[in-house]
Amino acid sequence: MNKPIYHITPEKGWMNDPNGLVEYNGVYHVFYQADPEHLINENIGWGHKISSDLLHWEECQPALLPDQSYDRDGCFTGSAVIKDDKMYLLYTGHVNQESGYIETQNLAVSKDGIHFEKYDGNPVIKNPPADTTMRFRDPKIWEKNGNYYAVIGGETEDKCGKVVYYRSRDLQEYTYCGVFADSDGSIGNMWECPNFVQIGNTDVLIISPKGLEKENGFSASFESGYMTGKMNYEEGMFSHASYKKLDHGFDFYAPQSFEDERGRRILIGWMGIPDADYTNPTEEAGWQHALTIPRKLSVRDGKLIQEPIEELKQLRSNDKAVCTFSYGQALIMQNSIYEAVIDFKRCREMTMTLREGITLSYKDNILTLNLGVYGSGRTTRKVKLEKLEHLHIFADTSSLEIFVNHGEEVFTTRIYNRHGRILINGECSGIMTVYPLKSFEIEGGRNEE
Ligand code: FRU
Repeated sequence: MNKPIYHITPEKGWMNDPNGLVEYNGVYHVFYQADPEHLINENIGWGHKISSDLLHWEECQPALLPDQSYDRDGCFTGSAVIKDDKMYLLYTGHVNQESGYIETQNLAVSKDGIHFEKYDGNPVIKNPPADTTMRFRDPKIWEKNGNYYAVIGGETEDKCGKVVYYRSRDLQEYTYCGVFADSDGSIGNMWECPNFVQIGNTDVLIISPKGLEKENGFSASFESGYMTGKMNYEEGMFSHASYKKLDHGFDFYAPQSFEDERGRRILIGWMGIPDADYTNPTEEAGWQHALTIPRKLSVRDGKLIQEPIEELKQLRSNDKAVCTFSYGQALIMQNSIYEAVIDFKRCREMTMTLREGITLSYKDNILTLNLGVYGSGRTTRKVKLEKLEHLHIFADTSSLEIFVNHGEEVFTTRIYNRHGRILINGECSGIMTVYPLKSFEIEGGRNEE
């Protein structure tokens, strides 16, 4: 029920953050926070899926289970790096205490990318640095000039989000390097899941702040965002621009990125949010949450741009529909699992129905997603937009991913209405192409309609 046909979902139980994204000997690996036995994250380990094309995913045995004294209450989020042809995972071990918890950073290694052994010398980072509370997690590791660096999310004693970083030569011993980026408390009390990425000449720090205050203009208490800048490794300084939001939908958090062997920077996010204040209708069917489609990252005019990867074109079935629309004209189609590309010649005002009762509208330079009665209580999200020029939409059984102006803004959200209806209306003209999408999971492809 509601199971997406081309997104990564858990076979059963709970899924949250993508972890350890990496391409290893031509195989893509996606690990994820998994609790197959529960519909909440009670006993978290790392689930694991592999793919040769980022489209067909094969389930592997769990990579990490919470079975050691230092990770017994959860193998929390972490990342992967390849060294001497072996795959290393650096992750957070979570241990509950009578009051609070302890979080340490730990290492596991694999020679085949499937079987992992935890390192005897764990934890490799035992204590949070000065002025960091017990909230100290989600290491993201990368290599630079023969050194390994890891950014880790944290919280200051004054409850301000920050990211600290470490250096290692061998992945086993780590030297604390200092604060990578921090805040005055206006961007949440803790920054989870940091990702440091280099895209061309621009360095980008992606974070997932929690504890945001709605009065400060945030629409929820959790979101993901980024800062573009430049890292000076000699001086240990990341100078950066101000924080920008990464997604405007209801269900996007804890994204992680990696560089594949073709040199693309690919991002996958959790299509969920920790404080989703609604009952996900999929619970009835024994599973919760999904990951986003893989997105290619680039930087344009100081903004981080997300665009669907090329490979997704292989999901298109042959019966595409192309329609030209002009002022006052509408267009109706009944597909519900589709990719739509809309190229506006001009757009002053428009309302697009994405599925029965779910709309995206543009008026007075505001783009609004309205889930109507199909968001299980969640209704509208907005973004300010000077011009609406292009939309690229991926609809799966119970999700929508809307890429605006070639990835300049994105809305990612779960939706719970299966009735197909695509309609565009208003003071706008252009061309719309709709491709019904198929799944590779069932031979010959499957459309749900
Ligand atoms: C983000 C997060 C991480 C943590 C993981 C636990 O969603 O809270 O900070 O490592 O989930 O599942």
